[in-house]
Amino acid sequence: MARLKTGVLISGSGTNLQALLDHAADPDFPAEIVAVISNRPRAPGLKRAAAARVAARVIDHTEFSDREGFDAALNAALIEAGCEFLCLAGFMRVLSRRFVEAWRNRLVNIHPSLLPSFRGLNAQAQAIAAGVRIAGCTVHFVRAETDSGPIIVQGAVPVLDGDNAQTLAERILAVEHQIYPMALRMIAEGRVRVEGDRVRILGSDSSPDRALIAPCDGGRP
Ligand code: GRF
Repeated sequence: MARLKTGVLISGSGTNLQALLDHAADPDFPAEIVAVISNRPRAPGLKRAAAARVAARVIDHTEFSDREGFDAALNAALIEAGCEFLCLAGFMRVLSRRFVEAWRNRLVNIHPSLLPSFRGLNAQAQAIAAGVRIAGCTVHFVRAETDSGPIIVQGAVPVLDGDNAQTLAERILAVEHQIYPMALRMIAEGRVRVEGDRVRILGSDSSPDRALIAPCDGGRP
């Protein structure tokens, strides 16, 4: 079966890119990473792409006078690389409505909160400030409004009393690395259906009696 030709957009360290590259290294994984593009020339994630022998490119947003011009260059590069699908992985640029619509339902993002809570920057610090007991991460289809769009997969972690934004971010990041490849696999297998604002996963095995509860009280009710 043909593998889904996937591009990944990054701006920074690229640990989620690494998780996607690691899974895609398995020839049985139904998606392959065919292009990595960074808007920042010094993004450490570029080295991860090179190490995995994936074509990496910089399209520096500071070289464009407006967002439309940058997005058009990005779009052209992705099409040239043969991308059929796109993952944002720590990509710190807002994409224009035109770009988002051109890639509608072929463009996903990962965000370090249980959306729709805590959109925008510093989601983990927002979670700490709000005092939530359960935090997490979300893979979702991208819509023009930042950090919105049909939710595909979420992963939850407890927030501990001693946590700060950094310790919580690390706990969430470990789960991001699990759910992003999982979401891409399900999409590439054709099991993800967008129905209005919601997503239906064909053949998923979520068990209705499994819950994540935090804090835990040693199993006592
Ligand atoms: C992740 O926390 C992701 O959820 C957010 O940006 C961060 C990127 O980290 N969108 P990395 O570059 O994948 O390590």
